[in-house]
Amino acid sequence: MRLHVADHPLITHKLTVLRDEATPSPVFRQLTEELVTLLAYEATRNVRVSPIEIQTPVTTTTGVKISEPRPLVVPILRAGLGMLEGMVKLLPTAEVGFLGMARNEETLEPTTYAERLPDDLSDRQCFVLDPMLATGGSLGAAIEFLFRRGAQDVTAICILGAPEGVAAIEKQVAGRDVTLVLGAMDERLNEKGYIVPGLGDAGDRLYGTV
Ligand code: PRP
Ligand code: URA
Repeated sequence: MRLHVADHPLITHKLTVLRDEATPSPVFRQLTEELVTLLAYEATRNVRVSPIEIQTPVTTTTGVKISEPRPLVVPILRAGLGMLEGMVKLLPTAEVGFLGMARNEETLEPTTYAERLPDDLSDRQCFVLDPMLATGGSLGAAIEFLFRRGAQDVTAICILGAPEGVAAIEKQVAGRDVTLVLGAMDERLNEKGYIVPGLGDAGDRLYGTV
């Protein structure tokens, strides 16, 4: 597994505002989108491209275009939805599939309550969006889902990760082509499975406590 933890003052600055409990939902949503666009730049470093001949006003030249089959972006509902716009800004031709998952707050086990993905993901590069990597249960289940459908490789973008979750994903995906891009690696999980210092419940901060 490849792990990239962002190290850029703009990202750390935006994360600081995101973490602040006084930051209201509209600002939180805007910052989440901006952070994903910044992280997507690194996450798409290995996106497959193929050569294409074009004519500039001066001459012909060879450039590149995103290869077929198009990359698949998979936000994990609900909180991952807040990352979608920031991602497709950078990859506008990507297709989008959805996975709905909720973590049981007692057992910390995820359940999948919705799925809208192509049956066959052979040859597809997949980009999973989930702001929080805590125990790794939700992201791990999403990654398994995609590989079972034949995905070629999976890149996950998370705003914050806990060392416990990163270790769990690393153990689970051993030998498979997985990249993890984090905005920051936090200190630890608390006794309730929340990331410390973290930012609280990402879904609630984006969309309220419905
Ligand atoms: C949060 C978060 C991740 C998950 C992380 O979702 O968005 O999906 O918890 O925890 P884990 O690494 O221990 O699995 P939640 O289940 O709260 O659902 P929500 O997005 O609907 O708020
Ligand atoms: N899910 C969240 O939204 N926040 C955490 O800190 C852990 C899991």
